[in-house]
Amino acid sequence: MAILKIARMGHPVLAGPAEPVDDPTASAIKRLVADMVETMADAGGIGLAAPQVHVPKRVVIFHIPPHRDGGEGAPADGGGPEGRGRPLTVLVNPWIEPLGDEMDTDWEGCLSLPRLTGAVPRYVNIRYGGAGPNGETIEETASGFHARVVQHECDHLDGILYPRRMEDLSLFGFVDEMRRGGEENSAPPVPEGDL
Ligand code: NI
Repeated sequence: MAILKIARMGHPVLAGPAEPVDDPTASAIKRLVADMVETMADAGGIGLAAPQVHVPKRVVIFHIPPHRDGGEGAPADGGGPEGRGRPLTVLVNPWIEPLGDEMDTDWEGCLSLPRLTGAVPRYVNIRYGGAGPNGETIEETASGFHARVVQHECDHLDGILYPRRMEDLSLFGFVDEMRRGGEENSAPPVPEGDL
């Protein structure tokens, strides 16, 4: 296992589509996932996509802490009723299907845009799936923050970083500077990591 270097915005590996994985159970994928888990833990992220560690393959990992799993429409910093959370999830060749048109805008961060944050619209309710780390079929529904994390990570596989999803770039900036606005400025609560 190893902690991998994280690519930052502007690196070509983050800008193009990632390749599908032929065999989700291949030993190279298991090694990649193990390294991604270690890298994400070291960086304090909620999620990580393989292109962020310079591997252009369709692999993402994420976990949802219970205090940020407030269910549908819950703010990204929690604040809603505490949900169950979700343990570490590995998705190979993931897919996403929006359930309905409802969107919600909330703050995101990304390990590839350190110290920055932005308010990003995402579908509130989705269905998603893919292959698990043992080749099993995963299919889930997700709402709120959980749905946001999956959309953010899967966007990485299509070369899309969150600023491209933003509708109001005045809500994009450095976390510590934006916090100067104080409470009434709805200061972003965002951590350093992905989401
Ligand atoms: Ni990210």
